[in-house]
Amino acid sequence: MESTIYFFTGTGNSLKIAKDVAEKLGDCDLIPIAKIWQKENLKSESEKIGFVFPLYYSGLPKIIYDFIEKIDLSNSEYFFTIVSSAGDVTELPLQQVNTLLKAKPKAKALNAGFLVTMPNNYIIGYDIHSEKRQKEFFEKEMNQVKQISEIVKNKKRNLNQDIFEKNLGRAERFNAKFREDVNKSDKNFYAEDNCNSCGICENVCPVNNIIMIDGVPEWQHKCQQCLACINFCPEKAIQFGPGTLKTQRYHNPEIAIEEISNQKK
Ligand SMILES: Cc1cc2nc3c(=O)[nH]c(=O)nc-3n(C[C@H](O)[C@H](O)[C@H](O)COP(=O)(O)O)c2cc1C
Ligand code: SF4
Ligand code: SF4
Repeated sequence: MESTIYFFTGTGNSLKIAKDVAEKLGDCDLIPIAKIWQKENLKSESEKIGFVFPLYYSGLPKIIYDFIEKIDLSNSEYFFTIVSSAGDVTELPLQQVNTLLKAKPKAKALNAGFLVTMPNNYIIGYDIHSEKRQKEFFEKEMNQVKQISEIVKNKKRNLNQDIFEKNLGRAERFNAKFREDVNKSDKNFYAEDNCNSCGICENVCPVNNIIMIDGVPEWQHKCQQCLACINFCPEKAIQFGPGTLKTQRYHNPEIAIEEISNQKK
């Protein structure tokens, strides 16, 4: 394949973007990071490589950081990144990807980077966007996908050096602390009595961090905080501390639940 897109998603936004771009590019493999990230000897084969993922705490999810650090990219030449966020975003994730690429034995660089605003899934901090706002984000995403695909098809650069020289140290430290603590952050999750033991939370968890014990989910302290479990629970039985008793749940309406559970298979 000419292109490979490696993606990670919790609630489908990033997968929606990855699928749309892959379709427009043609000759493009779509590989779930959740399926391969623990394998040894990871190596890219395509000329063009894309990383598509959600923004977590101003920067990269831990799984993305670890994956890009680990994979051998020496066979590839052109790199792009698409970050889906709820709109509170800087260039930090692009800087982080570029830094990881530069540290490779055969130093690489990020050629193109894109920030796409999608509906909020961080319901442990903020409530979801209104339906009207969600619709606006989805419409804008369709236009951005066209522009992104044209840039990638033609192997263009869309980033200037200023982006990489911006001092975003504070955001970087915030994100680094998140990555350090995230695995154990699941101690705040619990299932309420209305859990019907359906097992959906266990199925959608991209990193197998949930095991059903006596019909209720138990979290295994290797969490990525993707929030798939809490957002997909059909009974709204999962909470994260007291805050989520008040917030609604979100997942991308265009992505089937099976597509979320399949990313680890
Ligand atoms: C742990 C976590 C942290 C997040 N941090 C940010 C953030 O710093 N800024 C922002 O705009 N959105 C943030 N979000 C929102 C997501 O980046 C956004 O909703 C994204 O589109 C979700 O993608 P997904 O559906 O592919 O998982 C965060 C979400 C999660 C789960
Ligand atoms: S998804 Fe919700 S209802 Fe189903 S097992 Fe998990 S907590 Fe219980
Ligand atoms: S336990 Fe929940 S929040 Fe943590 S990685 Fe699994 S699905 Fe995501």
